[in-house]
Amino acid sequence: MKFTRRNFFRSASLLATLSLSEWGQFASASAAPLAATGQNVVSDEAFWHNVRLMFPLSRDLTYLNNGTFGPSPYPVIEAVKAGMMENDMKGQYGRWDETIKRLAGFVNVSKEEIALTHNVTEGINAGCKGIPLKRGDEVILTNHEHMGNAMPWMSRQKQDGIVLKTFAPGPTAAETLTRINGLITKKTRAIAVPHIPCTQGQILPVKEICTLARDKGIYSIIDGAHGPGMIPLDLHDIGCDTYASCSHKWMLGPKGTGFLYIRREFQDTLTPFAIGAGGDDGNWNLTTSPVTTGNYNDSALRYFGGTQSNGLYAGVVAAIDFIESVGKENVYNRIKYLGKYTQDSLLAMGDKVELLTPTEERSRAGVNGFRIRGVDFQKFFGTCMENRIRIRGVNENGLNSLRVSTHIYNNTEEIDKLMELVKEATG
Ligand SMILES: Cc1ncc(COP(=O)(O)O)c(C=O)c1O
Repeated sequence: MKFTRRNFFRSASLLATLSLSEWGQFASASAAPLAATGQNVVSDEAFWHNVRLMFPLSRDLTYLNNGTFGPSPYPVIEAVKAGMMENDMKGQYGRWDETIKRLAGFVNVSKEEIALTHNVTEGINAGCKGIPLKRGDEVILTNHEHMGNAMPWMSRQKQDGIVLKTFAPGPTAAETLTRINGLITKKTRAIAVPHIPCTQGQILPVKEICTLARDKGIYSIIDGAHGPGMIPLDLHDIGCDTYASCSHKWMLGPKGTGFLYIRREFQDTLTPFAIGAGGDDGNWNLTTSPVTTGNYNDSALRYFGGTQSNGLYAGVVAAIDFIESVGKENVYNRIKYLGKYTQDSLLAMGDKVELLTPTEERSRAGVNGFRIRGVDFQKFFGTCMENRIRIRGVNENGLNSLRVSTHIYNNTEEIDKLMELVKEATG
């Protein structure tokens, strides 16, 4: 069977007849991305219905929790399987060069700046543990951190006596910048904030934050868990020193696949935290006395090592193929469309609901946080679970709120279904 992307996404009947291996064939279909056809599909529910059919995600489940992890479509799952088969049938080892190259292209950096990790937390640790900090040095975080960006810094506070200072993200990008500025002192050495906090999902003005940091000689160590796949990214343009991210959230890739960007010029400042085979320049020798250590590899290869999974990394390439086949712009526009639909639906409830995510255009995309006045967030979370709707309760730092995150496999009907429950809860 020969697929073109255009026909494929348009034909629900074709989709329904596919076997699993045929889904895999789609992954390698070579037609031009749909985005190139110039069609505006953002509110074309029939089109997105067909996209949803490409996900094994249970049909009776309303999954509004992409912020925790993104379910993969069939082509990704097929690619993981094929990569594992290659591993196990042919004894094939390695094969992650292509993955690094494609990830680098996805976030617009060079392949020498990408280290493979297994999740965001690992990349955050590499940035946090590798920068030179001494007792009394100050690091700025938000008070909306995921534990993955809080624990590494808190452990440096315990071990090295650094001082953590926090702020709450503001209702606008400008206010967030003002709050960060207000915390900077002569002792500030790093700003280590999320690009998009897990709590309420507003997009922080990360380019301005990194410019501010650079101008003052401060490191910018960004938690980029929610960037790639949700919004278009150019990490060189953002100008951060490191950006820790993953393929298993908004890129819809296999679970357990992360990556870390380390700016080329920063690599001699950031001491490798986890290093192994491949992290060297080939000039080491254990038989000399003293031992000849050689130098680190002149690339981000110095930040990881050891056996990696062929299957998972083939899946990352397939995830990038998948997103590009739908069209990066289409994906972003649809995510933003559903995010706005969610905001508007919550705002329509009036003062019964408190929308926590800014409505400012540049600060919002696919994640929204809210509270229902007078309703315990855990109780409402339970009601959603009983109704097969998966959202997230946000108990971090006493926020006691709810989070909805939507991706291209979602639709407006699913959001309406959640809103019915919100309405019922408000009485
Ligand atoms: C903002 C943020 N940072 C870090 C993490 C940790 O990600 P991972 O589980 O890939 O380590 C998450 C996970 O949800 C997150 O939302």
